[in-house]
Amino acid sequence: LTPPTNCAELLQMALLEEPAALVRDGGVIADGLDAELDELRGIQTNCDAFLLDLETREKERTGIANLRVQFNKVHGFYIEVTQGQLDKVPDDYRRRQTLKNAERFITPELKTFEDKALSAQERALAREKWLYEGLLDQLQPFVPALTALAQAMASLDVLCALTERSLTLNWCAPEFTKEPCIEIRQGRHPVVEARLAEMSGASFIANDTVLGPRQRLQIITGPNMGGKSTYMRQVALIVLLASIGSHVPASRCRLGPIDAIHTRIGAADDLANAQSTFMLEMTEAAQILHSATPHSLVLMDEIGRGTSTFDGLALASGIATHLHNKTQAFALFATHYFELTEFPATHTAAVNMHVSAAESGASIVFLHELQPGPASKSYGVQVARLAGMPAAVLNHARHALSALEAGASESRQQVDLFAAPPEAEAAGPSPVEAALAQINPDALSPREALDALYALQRLLPKS
Ligand SMILES: Nc1ncnc2c1ncn2[C@@H]1O[C@H](COP(=O)(O)OP(=O)(O)O)[C@@H](O)[C@H]1O
Ligand SMILES: [Mg+2]
Repeated sequence: LTPPTNCAELLQMALLEEPAALVRDGGVIADGLDAELDELRGIQTNCDAFLLDLETREKERTGIANLRVQFNKVHGFYIEVTQGQLDKVPDDYRRRQTLKNAERFITPELKTFEDKALSAQERALAREKWLYEGLLDQLQPFVPALTALAQAMASLDVLCALTERSLTLNWCAPEFTKEPCIEIRQGRHPVVEARLAEMSGASFIANDTVLGPRQRLQIITGPNMGGKSTYMRQVALIVLLASIGSHVPASRCRLGPIDAIHTRIGAADDLANAQSTFMLEMTEAAQILHSATPHSLVLMDEIGRGTSTFDGLALASGIATHLHNKTQAFALFATHYFELTEFPATHTAAVNMHVSAAESGASIVFLHELQPGPASKSYGVQVARLAGMPAAVLNHARHALSALEAGASESRQQVDLFAAPPEAEAAGPSPVEAALAQINPDALSPREALDALYALQRLLPKS
């Protein structure tokens, strides 16, 4: 595909080397194409030279050494003469404006120039638009050729970009099979991986995915920040990349026919359209259940978040059941409802997976490794601690949690969530430890560090 020769010539002649993207503010048509446009542009560029020249001439003519020719948006062009020099002003000066120490004048010559200069810009723009319209008319016969050329270049651009990424990031060619499956070895999330390398130099933990007719639905549990959302999105991204003809961020990838990727992710209000978070969540989930097929990939990220626990859990289990029994799509179902880990026991094509985490003391380390089986617990309190939650709140939560857990195991007795934790049980970090943990030494000036030290000492129990 080559552009028709006369078309290329036309464009070269008519357009600036780097034309503006929009004709609205000009800067599109080349110099030398149109004498009138050149002249109008010339007036704008020669404006400064003319004013300097006029100033020199007027100084000579009047003998006023400090006379100045200037412009402002409100009053236009003017010649400014200070109070002491006013008796030298010639007859053809017309008063424009009076200031405290000076008068501003205009002359017929300057007025003529002003009219020309102010309208020049406007007329240049109008002229340029008119020339542009004309160019479009002249290009009419070449539109089909130009369209084909633009499409070919766009495809080439996309393919080059994907090829470059594939080579640079060590991606692999996916294999396509007839039998339904999604099998990914050492899959990675390309954006999170790049971001990690850039920010901390940490390496991304690759994970496998094996879905087939007998294992279609993964119930994914694990702590917040454990990597559930990342894992689910990476699977969707890999399927998407493979489907558009790209290599994928994995060491191996086998895919059966996939007809769609459906996702229910994140909680964003659409208040302008009168949809609450929960309404939006349910609307999206309903659409997915209506349109997904056994060849679809479905991502459900923490469905049921937007309502009360029992409501949410009930809906989440209903949706999981529907996906498993009726839709029969490949589904990744991340959930914070621990109860859903019971689901695979009664649903043969479902399996429990969890993102692993290790406890170290009262804290937690995320391993981001996907492993079979349900998560052992949800680590909410540990994550809150990492986030810098005040020690008193953590203490309270720990106490309430054990009460809830005990309450759930012994009959359903009432648990008083708002009772203060008994003093003796306040096992968490002491006030000094908590305050110490809040300090970031690198962010302190020597003076602030000293103040912090005094503040810590004041927190010590009085003996
Ligand atoms: N496989 C991984 N390897 C390395 N870091 C990861 C991985 N998965 C997630 N992370 C890190 O953990 C953060 C939280 O992950 P996310 O998927 O949002 O967790 P979750 O959905 O379980 O709360 C990510 O922003 C990323 O920095
Ligand atoms: Mg998440």
